[in-house]
Amino acid sequence: MPLVNMSELLDEARRGDWALGSFSVADMEMVLGVLQAAEEEKSPVILQIAEVRLKNSPLELIGPLMVSAAENADVPVAVHFDHGLTYENIAKALDFGFSSVMFDGSALNFEENVKGTLEIASLAEEYGADVEAEIGAVGGSEDGSQDLAVRYTSPEEAQAFYRQTGVDALAVAIGNAHGNYSKEPHLSFDILEKIQNKLEIPLVLHGGTGLSAEDFKKCISLGIKKINIATATFDSVERAVGQAYKDEKVKGYYDLQAVMVKAAYENAKKHIKIFGSDGKA
Ligand code: 13P
Repeated sequence: MPLVNMSELLDEARRGDWALGSFSVADMEMVLGVLQAAEEEKSPVILQIAEVRLKNSPLELIGPLMVSAAENADVPVAVHFDHGLTYENIAKALDFGFSSVMFDGSALNFEENVKGTLEIASLAEEYGADVEAEIGAVGGSEDGSQDLAVRYTSPEEAQAFYRQTGVDALAVAIGNAHGNYSKEPHLSFDILEKIQNKLEIPLVLHGGTGLSAEDFKKCISLGIKKINIATATFDSVERAVGQAYKDEKVKGYYDLQAVMVKAAYENAKKHIKIFGSDGKA
């Protein structure tokens, strides 16, 4: 099964009542776990890594690993560069064969966000890759280093942004935030509905960790077709490893590796089932 374009998968999801899980990966164990879950559940899936994570997982190493894993998977897999901030690293990801890239201009003003997105869109076009952008600002930060406030997406601005950029997918801010929520999240479904009514494109929900199955399903019914999950995977792996040591189940490195893969697998499987992408490959 080849590496596929994200928009191909998102189009299929739009025809049905389901969404794609876009799982952040930091190493080979997470890639193995996510793909094992996707293959077992016969689910298309997206593997992603954010630019801020490259200090831990260098793109030169993790990029080819992700692309090769996708090319060798039994289910359709898109490989996505998440929260791209610099032209240089986005171009590098495209060179490695990533099938989609996100330009994160959420910290910029509207005009600069449009300009930056258009620059990346024209680069991505040369590679036949898809582009995701963000309008408004999702709370927190991808690597937990900043606690940025949510700037809710304005449906009018989202429509104007799409008209000017023609992106393939648009990330929205409706009260969602990266990392673990410090208090129970309350998503603004009314804003999401207004955005959906104005835009005919797949919408993206960042900050998937900590949202309930009900929230996910409601979002999916209102046009969310790609859901990003990062912290839940990192936390599951970390917790499982801690528990395995406590239970004295780790007798050597490969026991440890098996625990890591299994935790990533279980987390991906749980989300795939909630998102309804199982059986869609
Ligand atoms: P979480 O870490 O909250 O799952 O968010 C992931 C994300 O949105 C990556 O872009």
